[in-house]
Amino acid sequence: MKEIIHKLYKYSEISDDELKMLIDSASDKDDELLRLLADDVRRRYYGRDVFLRGLIEISSYCKNNCLYCGIRCGNKNAERYRLSREDILSCCDYGYSLGLRTFVLQGGEDAFFNDEFLCPLISEIKQNYPECAVTLSLGERSIESYRKLKQAGADRYLLRHEAADEALYTKLHPESMLLENRKSCLFTLKKLGFQTGSGFMVGAPYQTSDNIVSDIRFLQKLNPEMIGIGPFIPHCSTPFKGFKQGDLALVLRLVSILRLIFPKALIPSTTALGTIHPYGREMGLKAGANVVMPNLSPADVRKKYMLYNDKICTDEEACENIAKLKKRIADAGYEVLGGRGDAVK
Ligand code: 5AD
Repeated sequence: MKEIIHKLYKYSEISDDELKMLIDSASDKDDELLRLLADDVRRRYYGRDVFLRGLIEISSYCKNNCLYCGIRCGNKNAERYRLSREDILSCCDYGYSLGLRTFVLQGGEDAFFNDEFLCPLISEIKQNYPECAVTLSLGERSIESYRKLKQAGADRYLLRHEAADEALYTKLHPESMLLENRKSCLFTLKKLGFQTGSGFMVGAPYQTSDNIVSDIRFLQKLNPEMIGIGPFIPHCSTPFKGFKQGDLALVLRLVSILRLIFPKALIPSTTALGTIHPYGREMGLKAGANVVMPNLSPADVRKKYMLYNDKICTDEEACENIAKLKKRIADAGYEVLGGRGDAVK
């Protein structure tokens, strides 16, 4: 196993069989080695730097019915809300005053947020804060829409592929959603010049290690600037309520593997990781992640944007306590850097 890990460190590549073996059977010692080498690789391009992104959850309405997700349209218990233009601008204002230089507008697939609404809003944010990056995470849209959003000034787009294997994708999503479409959205976003993010959940129902190998191979084809992974966490009002959550050690192992394969990627230590362990996000950073996304949504909506149960929306998770968050990151051995935090070329 050690040999495989060193090979991955040296060449950023190993065979499917080796990858599978690593995913399935790495020991604690192997994980430690992975972590050390991943930390070394991240240091090469990013030093000890960690970038912050202010996450603004603009809508909990969603037309999709993904089986894992708490804001699926079929969840009649979900409380729905939409932020207004003014709400969103004041989140940015507040975030800017806290030193954040990337705003992530994330939401369900909500037709209310059409191009006519979004484009002037994006332009306004970019005009107010020319040195800030705007990231969108609003699901699948048409090529035309993506083009307009890019022209309006959006810099980045997050769209997890969720599962690169057709059979698994079908088990996680309703029939109306097609893996082919998801993939083509991602390649379109790249072509249009968005810094593009993709990723998947770890430990999703029915997911096998072969599936994870496919996910990694897909990411290598796409070569995104950003890669987000986190544990699957069941939500009590979804069909997947009875499944167990993703394994912490496996998520961390995969963060390290992804860092070794994608030395220059921006890899967030996700909220989901912070949800399954009180120090999950610090562990993610130590395993090779270099981005943290504190919540910038208005406090009263945070609990309504409930993708999975027990999502952390405590003070420390949110932006109010940016100083505390910075201290936690410093205590883990890293340093929050100002600025947009683009991926190195
Ligand atoms: N557990 C973990 N992550 C989830 N997401 C959605 N539902 C869950 C869940 N139950 C993730 C998806 C989506 C991102 C915004 O949140 O991967 O892309």
